[in-house]
Amino acid sequence: MIQHNISLSRLNTFHLPSVAERYLALTDLSQLDGPEFRQAPQLVLGGGSNMVLLEQVPGLTVHVQLGGVEILGGAAGAAKGSKSRLISLSKANSQAAVGREYSSDGEAVFLRVGAGVDWNQFVRYTLDRGWCGLENLILIPGTVGAAPVQNIGAYGAEVAECITAVHVWEYGVGARTLLPEDCAFGYRDSRFKREPGRFLITAVDFRLNDQQELKTGYGAIQAELAHLSIDAPSPADVALAVTNIRRSKLPDWFFLGNSGSFFKNPVVSIATHHRLLAAFEDIPSYPIDEGHVKLPAGWLIDRAGLKGARHGDVGTYAKQALVLVNHGAASGQDIIAFSKFIQDEVQAKFGVELEREVQLIGNS
Ligand code: EPU
Repeated sequence: MIQHNISLSRLNTFHLPSVAERYLALTDLSQLDGPEFRQAPQLVLGGGSNMVLLEQVPGLTVHVQLGGVEILGGAAGAAKGSKSRLISLSKANSQAAVGREYSSDGEAVFLRVGAGVDWNQFVRYTLDRGWCGLENLILIPGTVGAAPVQNIGAYGAEVAECITAVHVWEYGVGARTLLPEDCAFGYRDSRFKREPGRFLITAVDFRLNDQQELKTGYGAIQAELAHLSIDAPSPADVALAVTNIRRSKLPDWFFLGNSGSFFKNPVVSIATHHRLLAAFEDIPSYPIDEGHVKLPAGWLIDRAGLKGARHGDVGTYAKQALVLVNHGAASGQDIIAFSKFIQDEVQAKFGVELEREVQLIGNS
């Protein structure tokens, strides 16, 4: 049922005041046959964790609440067909997977998860069963359906590495299943981000526990495991290390509104990198290919003197300059104005352009 003039303030992690002209909770796939889904809604809302909402969102907002975790197959005590009691099931689970055989395959476990399931709740569900694959991605806000859109990543892992299929509703076409090679996954990027208004993600298939190979190469994880005196870590141990690192550096949106990294880490040419090294010899960088390196935007903002900076109720987080925070009553406009100020300062000091990672939605 469509509702009118619904507040989205509690449905976005930045805690920004915003009103949806029309609002629909999507709880069952059968709703997709309705006339509303012949074309893309103005906003598809999951956990509201990677967006800046302006005061008015015209048109239709669809709040994806498709639940369900289903084990499609696999070993390691994963009884095929068993369904989570934690999370209610929807018809998302009855869609056929295309082109993949979901039978027992070594230690691998195959799961189908509804798009509206809370990401962190799902990660904990897999860790409770000792499954490996998502431990580095613990505590990322948002939903399962939003995870492939920007290919969420942290501490040396990206969600795309564990995805075997993405089930979508293509507006004007109908239900489809996309294999990873059709999803154009990249750094904080995918086809879903590049073709906005084409697909609504209804469920995601994962392959976990594959090689039991933990990603502990990231320096901060090694340091935290050493600090915890763990030398043969389990997936849950790595998740604990990541939890400790995130809690020490990143604000909890429940208490301090934010949307994680506000900008992408910029990729620059080797020539630009050399120019910067001459002036800032300690600038960190990560090689991308022969001609390019990635620079940490947090370092650039920090070195521009803006870590912990504040304009009214908007600021950068005191412990991680890449995260913009809402200290109380900021609006989407305030966030955008402050982010432009940061972009200008970084451009002036380093000659490097910062690109927003978060989506801007609505009108003020
Ligand atoms: N740095 C500073 N000052 C700061 C922040 C960072 O000097 O205020 C330096 C750090 O010392 C380090 C470098 O910048 O040398 C990189 O910082 P960090 O390891 O914290 O990671 P990041 O590049 O800032 C990225 C992701 C995060 C992810 C972490 C860990 C992007 C845009 N961000 O941050 O993702 O959690 O790596 O893997 O790629 C998100 O996307 O919302 C997010 C939080």
